[in-house]
Amino acid sequence: MPHAQIVGWGMYVPSRVVANDSFVKMGLDTSNEWIASRTGIEERRLVGKNEATSDLAVKASLQALHTAGAHAGDIDLIIVATCTPDHVMPSTASLVQTRLGATRAGAMDLNAACSGFVYALATGAGQIESGRAKQVLVVGADELSIHLDWKDRNTCVLFGDGAGAVLLRASQEAGVLSSTMGSDGSGADLLIIPAGGSRIRANHNGKSNRNANGDQYLKMNGPQIFRWATQMMAKASEDVMAASGLKPEQVDLFIPHQANLRIIEATARRVGIPSQKVFSNVGHYGNTSAASIPIALCEAIAAGRVKRGDNILLSSFGAGLSWAALAVRWGVSVQARPTPWSPLRLQIETRMAAVRSALRKQNRRVRTSIDSTLHRDQD
Ligand code: UT7
Repeated sequence: MPHAQIVGWGMYVPSRVVANDSFVKMGLDTSNEWIASRTGIEERRLVGKNEATSDLAVKASLQALHTAGAHAGDIDLIIVATCTPDHVMPSTASLVQTRLGATRAGAMDLNAACSGFVYALATGAGQIESGRAKQVLVVGADELSIHLDWKDRNTCVLFGDGAGAVLLRASQEAGVLSSTMGSDGSGADLLIIPAGGSRIRANHNGKSNRNANGDQYLKMNGPQIFRWATQMMAKASEDVMAASGLKPEQVDLFIPHQANLRIIEATARRVGIPSQKVFSNVGHYGNTSAASIPIALCEAIAAGRVKRGDNILLSSFGAGLSWAALAVRWGVSVQARPTPWSPLRLQIETRMAAVRSALRKQNRRVRTSIDSTLHRDQD
């Protein structure tokens, strides 16, 4: 059976940095001291008006292809984990597919909220292990800021925007060792964006047409999620370690979902992984939802925390309620990689993909008009 190895990685965060103090300046009843001490968050990145989720996803994906030395045309499947897609349809993955020029790839979105990236990684690995795909691009990208109520101090200080991506490739050597996914929909109301779907519809100006309760905003019972998350992430991590034949001392790096430093520390304590083996960057980005784990992975690599042969444990939780964990043996050297971000090459590749995409669109228009002329003549 082929194994699924991570051979490329990339991340992108918007350039706008928003520090905790900005909320105080906006008139919110909060403080840098409260946010930093209760969550570990010091700042986050927020998108500008014209930056959609696919824009972030494409930038992270190009970097992942670059570190892998891979070409978009060789990708078999693209999975974008997101709960903030560009549109209800088509999938954000399809938009990423055409902009990368991944002409052979299938494309789909996966929504498991903050657990989405680990769900997508497990799904992509399954495709490779079954022999159905050789290269799968897995992206976690979210802009939860578009659903935040900037007057709600319980939620708006917690989240940030970003994207991370990895390229999975079939290999004879071990890669993904094991994974687990779980869900408990009885807790759906604990973390929810009520409007915009079929239950509570959004009208044309984006507001719920049922009531004025701010149903378009993210709503959360933070303390309940907090208690559940520390237990669930620990349980999922233990399950996946057992399935992978790993003891806590054999885990070289633990990358949990970056939502709250206190949740991260409590989970690591429960699982028995010492703090020096835990990676966290929640201080700089806040909770970037499906992007948090791939962004943390990229920064762990950049910080020299990952080497060939390492056992890495990923664990996440989020709306659903949902959770997932995955263990992977790192199979490639990180030193010999090309520098991650070669602007000229990436610019050329995206321009070429844009031209190809525009040509295909034009070609479709021409064919449609020829077809309709022919039909008119036949009639
Ligand atoms: O991907 C999953 C996303 N969700 C999460 O990760 C959320 C998990 N939960 C948490 O991270 C934490 O529960 C919070 C950070 C949301 C809250 O921390 P906490 O330690 O559970 O809060 P607490 O129970 O100690 O304090 C709650 C109090 C409330 O005030 P009262 O009712 O006790 O007077 C809140 O109104 O803290 C208040 N509070 C704030 N105060 C200042 C909530 N947010 C803020 C704020 N600034 N930004």
